[in-house]
Amino acid sequence: TVQRPAYRIGFSQYSVAGPWRRSMLEGMERELSFHPEVQLQMLNAENNSQRQQQQIRELLRTDIDLLIVSPYEAAPLTPAVEEAFQRGVPVLLLDRRINSDKYTAYVGGDNQEVGQLAARFATRLLHQQGNIIEILGLPGSSAASGRHQGFIRALAASPGVHVVSQINGTWQKADLKPALKAALKAHPEVTLIFSHNDGMARGAYEVCQELGLTKQVRIIGVDGLVGKGRGLDLVQQGVLAATVQYTPGGEEAIRTALKILNKEPYQRENTLGTLLIDSANVLAMQQQTDKRDIERQHRLLQSLRATYASQQSILYGLIATLLGAV
Ligand code: FRU
Repeated sequence: TVQRPAYRIGFSQYSVAGPWRRSMLEGMERELSFHPEVQLQMLNAENNSQRQQQQIRELLRTDIDLLIVSPYEAAPLTPAVEEAFQRGVPVLLLDRRINSDKYTAYVGGDNQEVGQLAARFATRLLHQQGNIIEILGLPGSSAASGRHQGFIRALAASPGVHVVSQINGTWQKADLKPALKAALKAHPEVTLIFSHNDGMARGAYEVCQELGLTKQVRIIGVDGLVGKGRGLDLVQQGVLAATVQYTPGGEEAIRTALKILNKEPYQRENTLGTLLIDSANVLAMQQQTDKRDIERQHRLLQSLRATYASQQSILYGLIATLLGAV
């Protein structure tokens, strides 16, 4: 007989493109490898809020025990998520929020704090004097509005620092280049760019290279992933002056989901820590992440050994029975 998984989790992800979303999924899969009784079904909305609404409703029809959602835009996703919650399906929001408090738990970073950390570093770097361009994430996504609010609020304390231009990005590096080029030409006095993620920050650097501005303009990003060409590496190379680390949180999401499903105590708001990384702490950060990876691999190896051992004992039992029969 085929065993039904103990729990079925539906996951509505707005996109699987890019290293940050990949790392989120890897984290979920890593955590799920310790729980073979749990099945995860993911639907990818490919940057389309309407498709994501439909997919949430589709997942609800398949009788899931819990829904994880990482919403593309807050407003259009709010009704579908509320519907799920009102039906009694626990809803875990991951990384981004909706415009409602009808959800069971949130797992993700504090985006206001991300913006604040970037602003404080910017004013320090500029010695309280200078002009900034802000490159925002997709308008209408909670991560972009949070980062923007935190950034602007914290800058208000430094009257010598001004945001002279704001560019609405899409989180993707190619899309911002024309607008940034125009903004840099219109504001030749700019000495700092705050970009809502490292991908777009990298795009900003390429534009500065084209315009011969890499010495004059310092760039701050967000995400701080490990790996070649990712945030930490860009800080180490001096492409970025700093990045604010923002954890994808895949493991934490699965852990919280399981607590909810197992009716164990859980926190409704699970805020993942953020941290400013510049040339002073980037090496230490990278070493720490390497160590964490080794620990993770060790845990995985142990669980594989345990599975192997139990399979082996079943096999030995079977052999013993067979031998007994002859
Ligand atoms: C990836 C991403 C990250 C960013 C996060 C915000 O899709 O754009 O770069 O930190 O989403 O929700």
